[in-house]
Amino acid sequence: MFKEDALEGKRILVTGGGSGLGKEMSKHFLSHGAEVIICGRRDSVLKETEKELAKTTKGKISSFSLDIRDSLAIEEAIDSVFASGGLDGLVNNAAGNFISRTKDLSSNAFNAIASIVFHGTFNMTNSVGKKWIEMKTPGNILSITTTWVWTGSPFVVPSAMSKSGINAMTKSLAVEWGPHNIRLNCIAPGPFPTEGAWSRLSPETENNEGALDQSSMSSNPMGRVGEMSELGNLATFLMSDGCDYLTGQTIAIDGAAYLSAGGTFASLGKLNDEDWTNIRETIKKSNEKDKNLRNTK
Ligand code: COA
Repeated sequence: MFKEDALEGKRILVTGGGSGLGKEMSKHFLSHGAEVIICGRRDSVLKETEKELAKTTKGKISSFSLDIRDSLAIEEAIDSVFASGGLDGLVNNAAGNFISRTKDLSSNAFNAIASIVFHGTFNMTNSVGKKWIEMKTPGNILSITTTWVWTGSPFVVPSAMSKSGINAMTKSLAVEWGPHNIRLNCIAPGPFPTEGAWSRLSPETENNEGALDQSSMSSNPMGRVGEMSELGNLATFLMSDGCDYLTGQTIAIDGAAYLSAGGTFASLGKLNDEDWTNIRETIKKSNEKDKNLRNTK
């Protein structure tokens, strides 16, 4: 889809880059010429990914462990990233989430999510942004949110609230930091199954094959989950040059799932040709009845 050197010369930091969506985006960035630095909490996972991606993409990759809940650790890590060669892009991908009835959540449970998604993402963004402003260099920030930033979502309320905060941050800073040539955008992915997310968002139990099972996927207008390469391509587009005027936007990539849930007639997607022929006939009869009534007046 892109030239192999679309990201040549760019140094990109991906939080939560050791697994899931972060690993996939890192793979795409490396394959398009970027140097990628991945960070996350689990050093062994990072090292494994670093080895795998270095081999499969031949790109330059390094890693360091960082818990983005720790604001002091963030400042130190960002200092050393900039000292070792600067930075062109930040991808805020690290997150935490689990499904639960909201009435069952303690304030600790809320903080478990908010400290990563809400506070952690802000602290990463501000640490990196401050450096770019101080050094008078342009920068590009991509954050991974969800379509719940528009619709809200039951059973994942701390995540929905925190991701909405990132959405507001992105729009606000696109304006505040636009004069510094720093752009910020979000991707709101629909279902892109990864082991980490699925085990917490669609756990299988004895009486339940998973909240996001096959039947809920078939209600997606495209009838399927997302493919990792689709997400990787969108992220590559947003991290590359050429559309630098694009900032402050959140782009959903979900097969139109969130739009379909909102429309009054969204469920009609299930009707077949015969249903539509019958419906057409019924409407025609109703119109003719009305016409006849008007003619007899
Ligand atoms: N339902 C209700 N409460 C829950 C819960 C659940 N399924 N899971 C945890 N909690 C509560 C705990 O009871 C605890 O509250 P308490 O102290 O009042 O009892 C609080 O949340 C923190 O629990 P803890 O086990 O210490 O969580 P943690 O902070 O170690 O881990 C995450 C929570 C989110 C950080 C962890 O799941 C994680 O590492 N996630 C990263 C990966 C991920 O979530 N990927 C999916 C992204 S979409």
